[in-house]
Amino acid sequence: MKQTILIIGLIITAIATLPVVFSDDDWREYKQLSLGVSAISDPLYKEECGSCHMAYPPGLLPAASWQKMMLGLEDHFGDNAEIAAEDHQLITQFLTKNSADDSSYRRSRRIVNSLKQTDVPLRISATPYFLHEHDEIPDRLVSKNDKVKSFSNCNACHQQAEQGMFDEHSIRIPGHGRWDD
Ligand code: HEC
Ligand code: HEC
Repeated sequence: MKQTILIIGLIITAIATLPVVFSDDDWREYKQLSLGVSAISDPLYKEECGSCHMAYPPGLLPAASWQKMMLGLEDHFGDNAEIAAEDHQLITQFLTKNSADDSSYRRSRRIVNSLKQTDVPLRISATPYFLHEHDEIPDRLVSKNDKVKSFSNCNACHQQAEQGMFDEHSIRIPGHGRWDD
């Protein structure tokens, strides 16, 4: 009995001191690690890969996907997205170095873990993890919604997508609002 009281006492003390031990920055980092992917702003990447759509955080795909994509920019989902050789090399390095492989971010690991080793998806929105997370959202709110159009427009619904944050509190679907499942 005494031991139980002691243990409960210790737990209460530990919880009470948490806010002292963890600063606001620590909490933000913890939230991003568990609910998002690494936020990286590389000016060259943003300029070259963020003009037609948001600059997707590299932690959303494995390195093999980024390499394959960078080798086919002349036909990039029907568009020509070719860039100068020098920039091409720098961006490929940036993407592979910060890819979802070996990432300590939970969302990155879950994306990689949802793939078979032979899978090299070019779309984040085609990965099993993505499909599973979005399978309850009706077409009416996506392809038939003029303000969204495609699942590729992450930032139409995830207000902090470009900062690598995808937690449920930052989701607002245009014409629908918050998502309660
Ligand atoms: C000329 C316009 C253009 C440029 C520049 C461009 N993209 Fe794209 N990208 C597209 C289009 C169009 C799609 C398909 C969108 C859709 O299906 O709604 C796409 C889709 C993607 C997707 C898949 C999104 C999904 O559905 O998961 C990724 C990843 C991507 N682009 C990465 C890049 C990278 C990396 C670069 C820079 C090297 C780049 N894009 C530059 C036009 C562009
Ligand atoms: C039409 C709006 C919409 C678009 C576009 C969209 N999402 Fe989502 N996403 C949602 C909603 C709603 C949920 C929550 C689903 C649920 O909990 O049932 C979600 C969940 C997620 C989650 C899991 C979050 C968590 O904490 O469990 C991730 C990660 C995610 N989305 C990433 C993306 C990425 C990356 C893109 C773009 C390639 C994208 N989403 C595009 C609406 C959208």
